[in-house]
Amino acid sequence: MALSPVGAEAPSRTTSVPFAIDARQSMSPEPAEAVFDLRDVSIYYGDALAVRGVTMTIPKNVITAIIGPSGCGKSTIVRTLNRMNDSVPGFRVSGLVGYHGQSLYAGGVDPVEVRRRIGMVFQRPNPFPKSIYDNIAWAPRILGLKHDLDERVEKALRDAALWDEVKDRLRSSALRLSGGQQQRLCIARAIAIEPEVLLLDEPASALDPVATMSIEDLMQDLKRTYTIVIVTHNMQQAARVAERTAFFSLDVSEGHRAGILVEYADTATLFTRPADPRTRDYVTGRFG
Ligand SMILES: Nc1ncnc2c1ncn2[C@@H]1O[C@H](COP(=O)(O)OP(=O)(O)OP(=O)(O)O)[C@@H](O)[C@H]1O
Ligand SMILES: [Mg+2]
Repeated sequence: MALSPVGAEAPSRTTSVPFAIDARQSMSPEPAEAVFDLRDVSIYYGDALAVRGVTMTIPKNVITAIIGPSGCGKSTIVRTLNRMNDSVPGFRVSGLVGYHGQSLYAGGVDPVEVRRRIGMVFQRPNPFPKSIYDNIAWAPRILGLKHDLDERVEKALRDAALWDEVKDRLRSSALRLSGGQQQRLCIARAIAIEPEVLLLDEPASALDPVATMSIEDLMQDLKRTYTIVIVTHNMQQAARVAERTAFFSLDVSEGHRAGILVEYADTATLFTRPADPRTRDYVTGRFG
């Protein structure tokens, strides 16, 4: 498997990328604590191998982006990080998906508890057909977190930068919000139970540029509290928001198409001095 080890020596040649790398993305010199530790993870749907041999660690309180062409397994990987694929018929994972040193797929691990700690937001905003308040209060109520529910709802909406826009209509339907507001509502719903990790699968791809920018700003605020993994098709977005970026691609070398991790590095290195020619072709737009 062609996997570039993290921290591999990059070639001296600098690649010109057609967009800017945000200065906020400089890495702190201290190695961050790992939240996820994936070792040789392969993921199958029935007999089809979707993702092969992924080894990577995802650090705490950092935004990690996952980029790559359609079908390379980006959603498959993030859904595997909170056992969201469990209900997919034929889903199987091999290797180790470690979360704080514990295997997420070990017998006895409760998937509901996993999803309590590791929240997820999807590509299309999917508010429940309920009031704004009841969307946010839904998971806390299920978990019995009914004490100070109003405060909890307010805090989640404030943290998702939505409070000022909705505080006077908490009892009106969430479906009446704009797309960008609905996506911030979904983020508020995910953080209302104070998870540790937020998985965002193309959270802004259905949004206009203004709403996208507000989601990106929100991510910068949230990373103080949360570890964030974002899947994005948009390389500019990865460059703007993420400290670390993983580039996945489709590999056909063993006769089957399977997603592989080609390169994983701090974002500036991945975009300007990629170690692997496949990464270079992708980030400079020469792919495909
Ligand atoms: N529920 C499923 N059942 C069977 N195969 C699936 C399922 N979900 C994904 N796959 C397959 O797994 C592979 C990876 O798909 P995945 O959705 O993870 O790709 P992706 O990188 O997220 O693509 P996109 O950028 O289009 O969202 C594809 O071949 C896809 O057909
Ligand atoms: Mg996807």
